[in-house]
Amino acid sequence: MKLFKFMCYILLVSLTAAVSNKSFPAKFKFGTATASYQIEGAWNEDGKGENIWDRLTHTNATAVKNSDNGDVACDSYHKYKEDVRLLKHLGVKVYRFSISWSRILPTGFTNKVNQPGIQYYKNLIKELLDNGIEPMATLYHWDLPQPLQDIGGWPNELLADHFANYARVCFKAFGDSVKTWLTFNEAKQTCQQGYGSATMAPLIKSPGVADYLCTYTVLKAHAKAWHIYDDEFRGKQRGRVSTVVDSDWYEPASNSTSDMEAAETRRQFTFGLYANAIFLGNWPQVVIDRVDYRSENEGYAKSRLPKFTKQEIDYIRGTHDFMGFNTYTTSLVCKIEEPTFNETDYEFDMGSNAFQDPTWEATNSTWLKIVPWGARKFLNWIKNTYNNPEIIITENGVSDAGLLKDDARIHYYTEYLSAILEAIHTDKVHVSGYMAWSLLDNYEWLAGYTEKFGLYHVDFSSPNRTRTAKKSVDFYKKIVATHCLVDKCVTSGWSLFRVFSYFFSR
Ligand SMILES: *[C@@H]1O[C@H](CO)[C@@H](O)[C@H](O)[C@H]1NC(C)=O
Ligand SMILES: *[C@@H]1O[C@H](CO)[C@@H](O)[C@H](O)[C@H]1NC(C)=O
Ligand SMILES: *[C@@H]1O[C@H](CO)[C@@H](O)[C@H](O)[C@H]1NC(C)=O
Ligand SMILES: *[C@@H]1O[C@H](CO)[C@@H](O)[C@H](O)[C@H]1NC(C)=O
Ligand SMILES: *[C@@H]1O[C@H](CO)[C@@H](O)[C@H](O)[C@H]1NC(C)=O
Ligand SMILES: *[C@@H]1O[C@H](CO)[C@@H](O)[C@H](O)[C@H]1NC(C)=O
Repeated sequence: MKLFKFMCYILLVSLTAAVSNKSFPAKFKFGTATASYQIEGAWNEDGKGENIWDRLTHTNATAVKNSDNGDVACDSYHKYKEDVRLLKHLGVKVYRFSISWSRILPTGFTNKVNQPGIQYYKNLIKELLDNGIEPMATLYHWDLPQPLQDIGGWPNELLADHFANYARVCFKAFGDSVKTWLTFNEAKQTCQQGYGSATMAPLIKSPGVADYLCTYTVLKAHAKAWHIYDDEFRGKQRGRVSTVVDSDWYEPASNSTSDMEAAETRRQFTFGLYANAIFLGNWPQVVIDRVDYRSENEGYAKSRLPKFTKQEIDYIRGTHDFMGFNTYTTSLVCKIEEPTFNETDYEFDMGSNAFQDPTWEATNSTWLKIVPWGARKFLNWIKNTYNNPEIIITENGVSDAGLLKDDARIHYYTEYLSAILEAIHTDKVHVSGYMAWSLLDNYEWLAGYTEKFGLYHVDFSSPNRTRTAKKSVDFYKKIVATHCLVDKCVTSGWSLFRVFSYFFSR
């Protein structure tokens, strides 16, 4: 009983741990984020080609909760002006959206360019700019044109060139207006889930083989796109290009040296696998060592990890103008005994188990626990590991089960933004922006429409896809306006001005 009380006390203290009363910097940019397949719908309109999510949902509906698909989704293809009105209401500076490759290039190749597809994004971008909102465009948010999957998808290294050609079309068409570009969103999910564990399209199960081939291609594709921008567009368009890397924060389950090493190894296999080549050069050494070691013992003729040439290492290193970072939650890591060599698995390569502490605050999502200190530790780790890059948090948020009174979301944002404020002010991490995921409830991949991440509720049973503000809309609007999480922030003259103008404009 005593122990129970003690634990509750600890829990309460950590839940009510003071919300930071510091302010977000004057130049800090708040926004929201979405992705093409999750919101646009119009899957076969105006010349759009088929992509791997169209194919998966149309041929293997049982793979998705309730057999849901993105054929209509939020119908943002037709309702983009309404979306921009919602953004305007929130007062955000930035809107992060993604471009559907097969809407621009229906075959995936540049042999056919679809003008209505280009026009759609031009219209969206114009609507944003007319309302004082900066467009931030992601080139690839998981919707690969099906013809490119038909030649093997991302494990085929030829895709690096096809992506680079697509990127050039986009820079040319939109680069006069779009100044912030993201090549890949969470390539880890594309590679480890799409071609490893078979939990994302195209549902290829080849963990420890095709996933690394995919990563190898994606890093080269990113670098090519960055160099194309640098060589052909930057002088005139003056924008910036980077990629979005994501992971849980991995905290050692104990203070033993082996768990601390296992946690760092897991960070390198998840985040480092995608960031190291771009920010430092080459694969993380521990990834090379582990995959080489296991491949040899598993009887492969050569390592399952493709190696970069010296020239490729130099070509990829430095291809960033900032870092895009998505994070949602935290896991604990403990070292395990070396798994037997009769099976190949990306998990075995990592040599550890990851799990969540059952006492961490739960949400309506099975995988998403509220662990704000993990986000702060992660930001510090990025600062120390990658030479203190400018970081834009390109996604962060939580799902609900369909309530308009989404106090759990307000709580999540308060806790995470508070941790981010402390990272900025106390730890001097260079975070320059925050994109809440997501503007709208939308198609959440294999979870269909059951996991709802939106600030705005969408009625998927109505042909109008009616948008309704949840309680968190007013909450986020106030933070965007005041740059402050509490009633009274430690004020500078500037933040006082913001608070006044917010209340004045109401
Ligand atoms: C359909 O999805 C299921 C479950 O994810 C998977 O096991 C199966 O291989 C898929 N079938 C095809 C034809 O892709
Ligand atoms: C590890 O050590 C730190 C510092 O002594 C302590 O705060 C923390 O609770 C320990 N963690 C675990 C899991 O034992
Ligand atoms: C690998 O070996 C372990 C133990 O030796 C055994 O339990 C497992 O079934 C084997 N797996 C395969 C795929 O043969
Ligand atoms: C999950 O959703 C239900 C409503 O559907 C709500 O009552 C409950 O509080 C939610 N749980 C959490 C942990 O947010
Ligand atoms: C859809 O919107 C139209 C026009 O605003 C309205 O007349 C109609 O009643 C709405 N239908 C539903 C089902 O909400
Ligand atoms: C801000 O918080 C700190 C510590 O939590 C407190 O000492 C200080 O008085 C607060 N300042 C304002 C203006 O509320």
